[in-house]
Amino acid sequence: MSLVEPQTWREPVAAEVMRRIDVLAEVSETTGALTRRYLTPEHRRANDLVARWMAEAGMTARQDQAGNIVGRYDGIDDAAPCLMIGSHLDTVVNAGRFDGMLGVLSGIACVQILADTGRRMRYPIEVVGFADEEGVRFGTTYLGSQAIAGTLDPAKLSYRDAGGVSFRQALIDFGLDPDRIGEAARDRAKVRAFLELHIEQGPVLEALGRPVGVVTAINGQTRLAVTLSGEAGHAGTVPMSMRRDAMAAAAESVLAVETICGRQDGLVGTVGVLEIADAAINVVPGKVDFTVDLRAPGDAARASAVAAVTQAIQNAGQKRQVEARVSVIHEAASTACSQKMITVIEKAIAATGITPTQIPSGAGHDAAAMAGMCDVGMIFLRCDGGISHNPAERASQADVAAGIAVILRVLDALEA
Ligand code: GLV
Ligand code: MN
Ligand code: MN
Repeated sequence: MSLVEPQTWREPVAAEVMRRIDVLAEVSETTGALTRRYLTPEHRRANDLVARWMAEAGMTARQDQAGNIVGRYDGIDDAAPCLMIGSHLDTVVNAGRFDGMLGVLSGIACVQILADTGRRMRYPIEVVGFADEEGVRFGTTYLGSQAIAGTLDPAKLSYRDAGGVSFRQALIDFGLDPDRIGEAARDRAKVRAFLELHIEQGPVLEALGRPVGVVTAINGQTRLAVTLSGEAGHAGTVPMSMRRDAMAAAAESVLAVETICGRQDGLVGTVGVLEIADAAINVVPGKVDFTVDLRAPGDAARASAVAAVTQAIQNAGQKRQVEARVSVIHEAASTACSQKMITVIEKAIAATGITPTQIPSGAGHDAAAMAGMCDVGMIFLRCDGGISHNPAERASQADVAAGIAVILRVLDALEA
């Protein structure tokens, strides 16, 4: 029996996913805008809500030692390796509401459909709400999925957020034991594959008029933390030739990122955070911290951009007697999705009546970290204008229904 006939489940189930996306969008650190960072009280509230929905769909839900929320729907053969379905529940600052949440809620919806029809797959299904994919709190990212994949470097426990709180302390404040974070790692032999449905965050599917596509690979990324230390001084009295202006060095560095990354197709670079210490209108900036996010489809291109940007920052500092410290806080190689999963997803898309489209992902995804432990596959869903990391981010209910239909067909195909 196919899971997707008859299709009467489609609209109510997709409508419920849309409603839950709106409910989760209210769980925010700020009123009127969605911001939900890792290990905050809002993270806990989101986990509690998702755990309730998992339980309603017939899953047993638990929070792991990294703060991921994991629901399990037993299989007929419960000793078989599970299929993990999921995405993330953390957000950027002033975020859209679909990025991440769509994949978690669609996974729960699929299990709900199985439970409502009294069906179990031969293999167990686990739906995961990953705790940290955006990495806006500690700069480094994939902390939740790396913990599950068993690749989280414990040295990251000493990373600090903008308020000076360490990752270690944030886990304690959240009620977790940092020394037990390794327990979140799953046995590779018990996980057969990971499947993630995510909005495309780009314009390709919309331009083609197709609701879903299949992801071929996820770009690698390097994140840098830069500190420029010059000397604070009086804006009226220090001659231009005698200044050690950290902000002028930062400005030159930012433009260097733009120039270096503009030279090569596919290479992108962003300075998303920049802070002048003790900023005041009449003070020559003595210290500036900023971040650099560099991505490319190829690891060699990214590595040479990292080297060029680092050199440009050092040069900008030297010119002004400003000391430049550049550290790599996140490094993820570009990751191919498994050919087996690409084929299964393409067939599922075609069987849903949609022409399959292969798309590489410029954005990072938990699937990149999960590829360290199992086969990964990703389905992209069309979003309005390709807009993301923006409160205007939207996807339609009909497209969400199509995404769910594709997941259900993938579940069927994996029975074989
Ligand atoms: C997450 O959305 C990222 O690509 O940084
Ligand atoms: Mn995302
Ligand atoms: Mn995102």
